[in-house]
Amino acid sequence: MYLRKASENELDWIYRMGFDAWGNGLSMDAYLEGCRKSTKYQSGTWYVLTVDGQPVASLIVYSGQFALQDGCFGIGSVATAPEMRSQGYGSQIVRLVAQTLFEQHGAKAVYLHSDIGHAFYQKLGFSQIQGTNCFCKSAHFFHLQSSVPSYF
Ligand SMILES: CC(C)(COP(=O)(O)OP(=O)(O)OC[C@H]1O[C@@H](n2cnc3c(N)ncnc32)[C@H](O)[C@@H]1OP(=O)(O)O)[C@@H](O)C(=O)NCCC(=O)NCCS
Repeated sequence: MYLRKASENELDWIYRMGFDAWGNGLSMDAYLEGCRKSTKYQSGTWYVLTVDGQPVASLIVYSGQFALQDGCFGIGSVATAPEMRSQGYGSQIVRLVAQTLFEQHGAKAVYLHSDIGHAFYQKLGFSQIQGTNCFCKSAHFFHLQSSVPSYF
């Protein structure tokens, strides 16, 4: 299992991983077209978790926008290829990306907005910000910003 940044030619495969969650009833072609044109998706950094060289799970990392403070990062669009789910890959990519952000990018805090049952992210050490679907994991010295980052 290996974590790396995604390459350009993997993006369609990555978008497909989340089609069941974010397809909104569109055809696959229309959905992919929307993803390719998304300025939000273009503004982040996509990571993939690979097994035997094949991407099995993906997510996007944002910084410097969505009211994220300096040194704070946002994780979004966490998805595992449907046929590869329930094998720990979704958990593992969140865990490894958060670790990379803290250890290699000096993250003060990592945020995410949960669209799913909260236990998934709580098990990964993220704490819910009261009254929101926003979760955060922070470096021990960092006091959380008072405002919650906007949805990403
Ligand atoms: C959520 C997701 C990334 C989990 O990936 P995964 O590789 O299956 O994750 P893991 O194997 O580490 O963990 C599986 C556990 O995730 C939890 N989980 C998965 N989907 C969930 C949901 N919709 N609500 C609550 N918990 C969920 C369950 O506890 C599941 O355990 P189970 O397999 O025993 O049912 C995957 O289901 C997915 O891609 N879903 C579509 C996109 C999406 O909704 N992403 C989340 C955005 S916040």
